[in-house]
Amino acid sequence: MNKLKESIINRHSVRAYSDKHIEDAKVAELQDIILKYNAASGLNMQLITDEPEAFNCFLAHYGKFRGVRNYIAMVGPKDQKEACGYYGERIVLAAQAMGLNTCWVGLSYKKVKQRYTIGNDEKLHLLIAIGYGTSQGVSHRSKSVADVTICKEEMPDWFKAGVEAALLAPTAMNQQKFRFELIGNKVKATTFPGFYTKIDLGIAKCHFEIGAEVDKSIWL
Ligand SMILES: Cc1cc2nc3c(=O)[nH]c(=O)nc-3n(C[C@H](O)[C@H](O)[C@H](O)COP(=O)(O)O)c2cc1C
Repeated sequence: MNKLKESIINRHSVRAYSDKHIEDAKVAELQDIILKYNAASGLNMQLITDEPEAFNCFLAHYGKFRGVRNYIAMVGPKDQKEACGYYGERIVLAAQAMGLNTCWVGLSYKKVKQRYTIGNDEKLHLLIAIGYGTSQGVSHRSKSVADVTICKEEMPDWFKAGVEAALLAPTAMNQQKFRFELIGNKVKATTFPGFYTKIDLGIAKCHFEIGAEVDKSIWL
């Protein structure tokens, strides 16, 4: 099985981290990946290391975050929520393949603005905590393939594999509000309104492409 599919199966949100530092070589690898995806997307994602203050606040403690000292600041144009989800999750899955753990964080942190740059027309969409977890996390409850698909014909294997991978994706409050519709040999991905659903949709589309072994040309 390829590494990204393994990452999809093994990844769970991890909120408690050990004090083991991320090795320099892995930091450099993450920086390279982030540069590559910033260039592809126009986002301004930034890896912040050895910065404990963002998760040293009531919201983070209340949200059961412990020991977070590294994170990715998901900065980008205000209207680029789906890209933020898509490319952020590409980084999450690469980090998982390096033996690191992660958690997308929309609310449970405070801003430490001196550690990252936010350009005009950009905003900090959210953070991704990253590091060595004290555990590997646990599987989330999930909707079924039938709950999140519209498919008039018999479901092709590749489409089912894509949806199964999307059902393993992280979503805010585990809401899984995405839908995949098979139209001819293309797929229409949509979402219902709600908190962070456009980011969730980008994350789910990233998983779908990997699970179905297709590229962006699949989308209607
Ligand atoms: C956009 C987004 C925002 C999230 N925000 C938070 C958050 O603020 N606090 C938190 O504890 N978890 C947060 N999560 C993690 C979700 O709760 C988690 O992905 C979901 O429960 C599914 O669990 P899993 O990631 O272990 O599969 C967020 C996830 C996403 C995708």
